[in-house]
Amino acid sequence: MTAIRQVAVQGDTPYTIHIGHGLLDDGALIGRHIRGRHVLIVSDDQVAPLYLDRVRAALLAARPELQIGAHVIPAGEASKTLDNFGQVIQSLAELGATRDACVLALGGGVVGDMAGFAAACWMRGIDCVQLPTSLLAMVDSSVGGKTAVDLPQGKNLVGAFHPPRAVIADTATLATLPPRELRAGLAEVIKYAAIRDLRFAQWLAQERHALLDGQADVLALAIAASCEHKAEIVARDPTEKGERALLNLGHTFGHAIETAQGYGAPGSDNLIHGEAVAVGMVLAARLSAALGMATERDGDALAELLGAFDLPTRIPDGLDPAALLAHMRLDKKNSAGSLRLILWTAFGESLIVPDVDEAAVLAVLAAG
Ligand code: NAD
Ligand code: GLY
Repeated sequence: MTAIRQVAVQGDTPYTIHIGHGLLDDGALIGRHIRGRHVLIVSDDQVAPLYLDRVRAALLAARPELQIGAHVIPAGEASKTLDNFGQVIQSLAELGATRDACVLALGGGVVGDMAGFAAACWMRGIDCVQLPTSLLAMVDSSVGGKTAVDLPQGKNLVGAFHPPRAVIADTATLATLPPRELRAGLAEVIKYAAIRDLRFAQWLAQERHALLDGQADVLALAIAASCEHKAEIVARDPTEKGERALLNLGHTFGHAIETAQGYGAPGSDNLIHGEAVAVGMVLAARLSAALGMATERDGDALAELLGAFDLPTRIPDGLDPAALLAHMRLDKKNSAGSLRLILWTAFGESLIVPDVDEAAVLAVLAAG
């Protein structure tokens, strides 16, 4: 029940990331971050049956006066839509949520992004506490305040920066996470190693079996290390005016793949977000080598590390390189008429490149 680790996110709106086993049962900890009386728990239909009643019961035990509503969306990226966002807003209206209300985002990154966006918009901004239950959400999406929904034209095109009031990551929930989702989360963990921490990469390679087996103590270390990396960057650059863009290594490629495939639903063959990022990071490394910025050997090492975690490293069959490039042009990181990508010079050293040659990108996409 006790938080075993805490990571502080500094900056204009500081908050704490609590990482520990059993934290969803700690109603006092969750309740401490709720200012008013109204709470809306947003979750999805795979996570809610496992954890929603437990969170509600724990909260009511600690704060019996709370009025707690729930809103459950279908699981999967295909649910991160404006329509579903509108329905979360409708639930806040039905709850009669006031300015001091709190949204609890109980689930993976899809729930976190959509619930966070609803909190950002309701009455121009109410509190959101992130309760991430997927590894990807614990190491990335719950931290840093990016909230959004997708459009058919592209990922995360409608959204807002809205930092959470707290992040409470119960590592016990990872025991029910499907193995494919665990691996997808590990792709984002590897991202931190790829952009800024060679020693972390070596540690990840060494602890591969423990991580893939879901060994709780090793996963907790990986989560804390990832959150420390992200906290350091978002504290300096909360709204991605500069270095925060480094956290998007592989994402422009990855988002293009997700958009071209029409977004994944549980059980579909489409790449899920972390898998698409894994492929995207390898493509970024290949492009860096093609542009003479890095060695091919580093790209091979990254592909090998991702492959060791059973993550995909090549573009799925049937996707048209020109169509992928068109999707990449709509990415939020671009400015008019130029493709802005995160590339690297060596394993653990990344940089933002503002005007990347499209012909080189197309060649990398065509090579797969
Ligand atoms: P997700 O939310 O779809 O969750 C993955 C799957 O695992 C879902 O089916 C979910 O129901 C299930 N699940 C989650 N926790 C579970 C648990 N403990 N037990 C059983 N099942 C569980 O996907 P994700 O990988 O968590 O997040 C991906 C999303 O996050 C994407 O939309 C991506 O764009 C977004 N993202 C946002 C940021 C950000 O900074 N805001 C960063 C990275 C990714
Ligand atoms: N996942 C990238 C970011 O939060 O900036």
